[in-house]
Amino acid sequence: MDHNYTYQATLAASERVNWRVEDIIGGDKRLDFAKPFMPESLARVEQLGFLTPEEKVVLNHIRGHGYLYTFGLVEEFILPFVLDHARLRLHGDDYCVRALLRFAGEEAKHIHLFKCFRENFVGSFGTRCEVIGPPHEIARAVLSHHPLAVALTILHIEWMTQRHYVESVRDNQDLDEQFKSLLRHHWMEEAQHAKLDTLMIDALSQACGPEEVDAAIDEYVQIGGMLDGGLQTQVEFDLDSLERATGRVLSEAERAEFMAVQRQAARWTFLGSGMTHANFLATLQALRPAGRARVEEIAPAFS
Ligand SMILES: [Fe+2]
Ligand SMILES: [Fe+2]
Repeated sequence: MDHNYTYQATLAASERVNWRVEDIIGGDKRLDFAKPFMPESLARVEQLGFLTPEEKVVLNHIRGHGYLYTFGLVEEFILPFVLDHARLRLHGDDYCVRALLRFAGEEAKHIHLFKCFRENFVGSFGTRCEVIGPPHEIARAVLSHHPLAVALTILHIEWMTQRHYVESVRDNQDLDEQFKSLLRHHWMEEAQHAKLDTLMIDALSQACGPEEVDAAIDEYVQIGGMLDGGLQTQVEFDLDSLERATGRVLSEAERAEFMAVQRQAARWTFLGSGMTHANFLATLQALRPAGRARVEEIAPAFS
């Protein structure tokens, strides 16, 4: 693979970052509901011309709630996957074992962080926001796939997280500072995860023949299809949450427009922005150029 990532360097970077959940959430570190949480490039609320400015901010908050919940949800399968992989590598390189255990530990911390966020959100938002799940069932379905397919899914997620923060959040002055701080701290650790996942893919793919790699890429696409189904359900829940929170009842035409715009927003957020990340495509290219071509061919449906 064409990269210069090492377990030793990512371990050192992870040890330098090392924040505590207690330092970034709780106490006076509260969400400010007067401001949007999500960048418009991911939320796409402005396209919904039938919503008032206040309703658009409420929808943005609902999307922010779902965004961090979904991260917590995918981390529920990343954590056991990385632990299982670390166990296979126990008698090898010490830096590898230590870096992978920190990766797992950080995902456990992120799951905790996003649960704390949710408590804070639910305590202030006022009405219920339903979410897909339960996370352990989705995790079981994902983990039933070939390890290389799961590792590709995780790599997609790690690069996608990097992209969202760097392209849409870091220099955005309009967003709530507390929500932005959660994304910044998450991004600081995900930078190492993307590299470690690339190294895991190197190890897993070396044990596979070309046909097995092709099948794994096929299963990665299937996992994406399953997650896409979940996203559609989440958008339906978001519509209900918006009506509950604002007291507004959307007409049939408004509901259809909401579903079309928000479904595509969710698809871009969680699928398209990962599938088209240059580093994710480079890993696919190194594995199987035809696999990269296949993903690039279906990506426009998720933009
Ligand atoms: Fe994470
Ligand atoms: Fe991660």
